[in-house]
Amino acid sequence: MGYKIVVIPGDGIGEEITSSAVRVLEAVDKKFNLDLSYEYHDAGGTAYDKFGVPLPDSTLEAAKASDGVLFGAVGGDKWDNVEPTLRPEKAILGLRKGLGLYANLRPVKVADTLVEYSPLKPELVKGVDLVIVRELIGGIYFGERCESEMKDGAERAWDLENYSVPEVDRIARLAFETAKIRRGKVTSVDKSNVLATSRLWRRTVAQIHEEYKDIELDNLYVDNCAMQLAVKPTQFDVILTGNLFGDILSDEAAVIGGSIGLMPSASIGTCTSLYEPIHGSAPDIAGMGIANPIGTILSAAMLLRYSLKQEEAAVAIEKACDRALEAGYRTGELWKPGFTKADTVTMTDAIIKEL
Ligand code: IPM
Ligand code: MN
Repeated sequence: MGYKIVVIPGDGIGEEITSSAVRVLEAVDKKFNLDLSYEYHDAGGTAYDKFGVPLPDSTLEAAKASDGVLFGAVGGDKWDNVEPTLRPEKAILGLRKGLGLYANLRPVKVADTLVEYSPLKPELVKGVDLVIVRELIGGIYFGERCESEMKDGAERAWDLENYSVPEVDRIARLAFETAKIRRGKVTSVDKSNVLATSRLWRRTVAQIHEEYKDIELDNLYVDNCAMQLAVKPTQFDVILTGNLFGDILSDEAAVIGGSIGLMPSASIGTCTSLYEPIHGSAPDIAGMGIANPIGTILSAAMLLRYSLKQEEAAVAIEKACDRALEAGYRTGELWKPGFTKADTVTMTDAIIKEL
């Protein structure tokens, strides 16, 4: 029995933050007897340097065969000039596609202790509790593209945005189901005043909504949504949107909570699910041991909740993170006088102590 977790540290701070999350998982395993085992695999620039490809087949196959994937981050300036199809980012995109991870859940919940860190006024931020449901394997990210061609005497490039009804259907259902066990409101975000894909998106979401009459459905244009997130973020419960808009809005929403370093995510589909912090590989601080591990640790909690159905263990981790913050531990980007400055290991120790 037991569960096999594939750990993919990736690049930059990936190594430091995933090893913190594994330490927390080991501690929670002891407490709840989960019988977790770990298998490590390469991806991203690190894999490119070793094998000449960002996503070795062995990594994808191991991910498929596991009970859950814990992913760090990929990318870095070092690989900026690598051929586009071999860029480190192709590793995470390939894993998403290869595992059929059509939905990315990005919860943003602002703990009262962290309200003051938000760039927004405390009274706007208090009580924010939303989740972005981002379509993850369609849209412009995976459409046809052309890196360079000549047309009318000028060099151009293009990327094709496209969505099919079944693609919108399944993500819309997931958003309505998510709202059902939350506060019962879905805001679907598109740009249907301009884009054909958005008009199909809006029509399809309306159709699925027929089956979810108790859920309130609002539609917002993406530009207005970006503004509303800054003006009144508490109005949102579930934000449903496509791949590109979801990428942009989730960074904006994350910073409302004070630090992108705190935000976890779950990518869910038809096969094994994958869990990763929403921040990147932060090459500027890689190897310094100062990265905030909480986004990754909370991602590990989501893994326990969604993939292993270990709700109690998941909550234990979430509470331990809250308590370590309440006890005054802060990594560099959140530190101010009066608090205990913690590097990655110290923060992790403080969380484990609270378990
Ligand atoms: C994210 C990241 C990725 C994305 C990159 C690394 C390809 O920004 O998970 O939000 O754009 O989806
Ligand atoms: Mn992003």
